[in-house]
Amino acid sequence: MEIFGCIFTISFVFLFLSQNVFSSTVDSIRSPQSLSDGGTLISQGGSFELGFFTPGNSNNRYVGIWYKNILVQTVVWVANPCNPINGSSGLLTINGTGNLVLLDHNKSVVWSTNSSKQAKKPIVQLLDSGNLVLRDEEDVNSETMYLWQSFDYPSDKLLPNMKLGWDLKSGLKRRLSAWKNWDDPCPGDFTAGVVFDPQLHTFPEILLLKGATKFYRTGPWNGLRFSGAPELRTNPLYGYDFVYTEDEVYYTYDLKNKSVISILVMNQTTSLRERLTWIEEVKVWRTYSSLPRDDCDKYGVCGANANCIINDNPICKCLKGFKPKSQEKWNSMDWSEGCVRSSPLNCLEKDKDGFIKFSGLKVPDTTRSWVNKSMNLKECRAKCLSDCSCTAYTNSDITGQGSGCVIWYDDLIDVRQFSDAGQDLFIRMSRSELGKTNDNIKIRVVVPVAVVGGVSGMFLLGYFIWRRCLKDRTDRNETSSKNGSQEEDMELPLFNLPTIATATENFSVDNKLGEGGFGSVYRGKLEDGKQIAVKRLSISSGQGEKELKNEVKLIVKLQHRNLVKLLGCCIQEEEKLLVYEYMPNKSLDSFIFDQNQGKLLEWSKRFKIICGIARGLQYLHQDSRLRVIHRDLKASNILLDSEMNPKISDFGLARIFGGDQIEGKTNRIIGTYGYMAPEYAFDGLFSIKSDVFSFGVLVLEIVTGKKSRGFHHENHGLTLVGHAWTLHKEGSSFGLFDQHLRESHHNLKQVLRCIHVGLLCVQKSPMDRPDTSTVVVMLGSESELPQPKQPGYFTEIVSAKGDNSPMKAEFSSTNDMSITMLEAR
Ligand SMILES: *[C@@H]1O[C@H](CO)[C@@H](O)[C@H](O)[C@H]1NC(C)=O
Ligand SMILES: *[C@@H]1O[C@H](CO)[C@@H](O)[C@H](O)[C@H]1NC(C)=O
Ligand SMILES: *[C@@H]1O[C@H](CO)[C@@H](O)[C@H](O)[C@H]1NC(C)=O
Ligand SMILES: *[C@@H]1O[C@H](CO)[C@@H](O)[C@H](O)[C@H]1NC(C)=O
Ligand SMILES: *[C@@H]1O[C@H](CO)[C@@H](O)[C@H](O)[C@H]1NC(C)=O
Ligand SMILES: *[C@@H]1O[C@H](CO)[C@@H](O)[C@H](O)[C@H]1NC(C)=O
Ligand SMILES: *[C@@H]1O[C@H](CO)[C@@H](O)[C@H](O)[C@H]1NC(C)=O
Repeated sequence: MEIFGCIFTISFVFLFLSQNVFSSTVDSIRSPQSLSDGGTLISQGGSFELGFFTPGNSNNRYVGIWYKNILVQTVVWVANPCNPINGSSGLLTINGTGNLVLLDHNKSVVWSTNSSKQAKKPIVQLLDSGNLVLRDEEDVNSETMYLWQSFDYPSDKLLPNMKLGWDLKSGLKRRLSAWKNWDDPCPGDFTAGVVFDPQLHTFPEILLLKGATKFYRTGPWNGLRFSGAPELRTNPLYGYDFVYTEDEVYYTYDLKNKSVISILVMNQTTSLRERLTWIEEVKVWRTYSSLPRDDCDKYGVCGANANCIINDNPICKCLKGFKPKSQEKWNSMDWSEGCVRSSPLNCLEKDKDGFIKFSGLKVPDTTRSWVNKSMNLKECRAKCLSDCSCTAYTNSDITGQGSGCVIWYDDLIDVRQFSDAGQDLFIRMSRSELGKTNDNIKIRVVVPVAVVGGVSGMFLLGYFIWRRCLKDRTDRNETSSKNGSQEEDMELPLFNLPTIATATENFSVDNKLGEGGFGSVYRGKLEDGKQIAVKRLSISSGQGEKELKNEVKLIVKLQHRNLVKLLGCCIQEEEKLLVYEYMPNKSLDSFIFDQNQGKLLEWSKRFKIICGIARGLQYLHQDSRLRVIHRDLKASNILLDSEMNPKISDFGLARIFGGDQIEGKTNRIIGTYGYMAPEYAFDGLFSIKSDVFSFGVLVLEIVTGKKSRGFHHENHGLTLVGHAWTLHKEGSSFGLFDQHLRESHHNLKQVLRCIHVGLLCVQKSPMDRPDTSTVVVMLGSESELPQPKQPGYFTEIVSAKGDNSPMKAEFSSTNDMSITMLEAR
């Protein structure tokens, strides 16, 4: 914009007390001043500017607000989006009854505010939030006193602290509308807003529309987030809220760091609602997240009463108890007709219907719903049963134990499955459906194989487990028919021992992959050819079978690109087997610590691995439901898939063996020398920050190709961490970089940045270490990093081999073996 100052038709005395650099500018118009084309208002803090502009290749003039300090002009609000002015004769002024009006060349009103109240001394002011407000100058500057504000009439962008939603008292609906195109700010047909029916008490949710067609639903607010928006989680960038009271229903967000610029934008071209963040270093808007994300986000893609599961093929499945309306169409992947009940409901006959509990769902479209925030789940169930058109119910708020009641009528539309989010939904079923077997648990009868090595009890054991599994299944059916609902888990895939014995050729030595922290690992091949890795837990967990199963069930749900996938288990008093996906490239330590193999892992791959581990750890610490502290992160616990993507293994096992899994103090140290944070090794204090310490050590190992443990032998008593710190202080960090990689292509800045981040992670005090989401951001950006202080383990304190080691009690002779030790204090 070619704007060099403020041209006011009438001069006035300007009192501006702020001492900042913007003091030569104005932020407001009082009657009878006006603003003509070429002049601008600038908010007091200098964040926003208001004036006339021409978008894209258009010739028209519009009045708008844009960021003052952003190189790429970003218009966040337009006054007259559909009534442009031809030429530069536009004039913005306050008229005789105190409204802001935009006049064209022959003084006719092109656009105006429509305040119902007239101010004695009207003033129009551009605030530093980007809000343009009309108020009475004599009123105190408070929000309730605004006679009109631009935040009530959003364009295509939602700024921090703007409300997306309804004011139920005034009837005002604040929605976002994409521009028609880059040249025309007049609303296109892509819009976003809160929808619900206050009269019918339907459950509010946010809907993206294309014209009148539903395009994407966030799902209703469940107290923690939108039911269908698992990405809405505590994050370093912004905080968010959804308010739902008698007076107002809206979504809003606020930036955590006021010097970061981030907005929500509706984009007509891409049909995406994006969160963009301004990256000043490179002067671009970067996409932080966007909706819809995948095929399952497409509204109603699977039709009625079906569930969309993004990792399945095909993605659509009828909900349990339902079958395709047209099998033929369904088979040809035309899901539009959806699914119908396998057995009809018997509403009129008492006690003929019950409910099946589904977990991890995005709940259905709420157009035909009803909500009461003060009813409990039991009352909710009764209310649903008493109404023949009710098809499902659940808590309206899932915070804590859950509260409130929402029920659905008729077909259930736009349901999807999340592996690690979503919520419970109780779907009404005819009694005949309730007793049916759980087809998620497959029990295969495998002819037991010959048993070698004198383990003659194997056959008997296998048979016993098989019987036991059958019994489990029978128990399950009995419970379901007793309470009329299948509250049982469908989530724990059980393998039977003969299957695994066959797959691993009876745990043959040839198939042994290694000895991990909690037992031996074997390679195996299932009947269908699928390769697996079986961990045979060797030490007693101190937990009962049921607790162990519960624990495993939780671990199974942790799914992330950078975690090794747990496929299932086989648990019986004598044998505890965990079945994982097989990783062909073994573990990271076999590469980085080996001269020859190490050369195969050039820097770009190493960097990718570092970032992947950080993301996996972030998921464990922050994004998963459980908040898992790994407690034994190290190179041998990072496995590599066929594309050398890193996958963290053995996560969650500390929960099993450590007992206490929230942050705290433990008597039972699980970990590995060289990786353990000082407060954990010496005082048994563990937290996500002790994992961050291990991560820091791991990063230094990946960069140097040197083992943390045993490093001191060749380096005058300095640990790897101490050595890294010494070189960093001297400004010669590059000396740490793996010698074998120095000649090959590498990004020096990236190498140094990794060392720097590594050092920040191994700070002595847990408080000085960044959390994992900060680590992820640090690795991915080029912003300045804080300076590290002297790290923990500067010099060798614990002698790994010395007899005076306070921890030698159960220390194994195997290198890098995890230690599991009682009473470390
Ligand atoms: C805009 O104004 C120019 C001259 O000022 C005129 O030639 C043109 O026709 C006008 N366009 C419209 C759409 O009124
Ligand atoms: C000021 O503008 C408003 C809105 O356009 C209009 O209703 C009102 O009549 C105008 N007042 C005068 C004195 O022109
Ligand atoms: C002035 O505006 C009116 C509409 O309000 C329009 O009909 C008329 O043509 C305009 N006059 C000129 C000279 O453009
Ligand atoms: C005020 O104007 C907006 C358009 O800018 C319109 O949507 C709204 O209905 C008007 N409100 C009143 C009370 O007239
Ligand atoms: C806020 O962001 C700026 C710019 O990215 C950064 O320099 C500053 O350190 C951040 N402040 C806090 C408290 O994180
Ligand atoms: C919409 O997306 C296109 C393509 O990514 C981009 O060029 C354009 O700037 C976006 N528009 C807005 C308003 O962000
Ligand atoms: C919601 O439930 C409570 C408790 O059962 C009841 O007192 C209240 O009237 C209900 N509200 C509505 C709108 O039905």
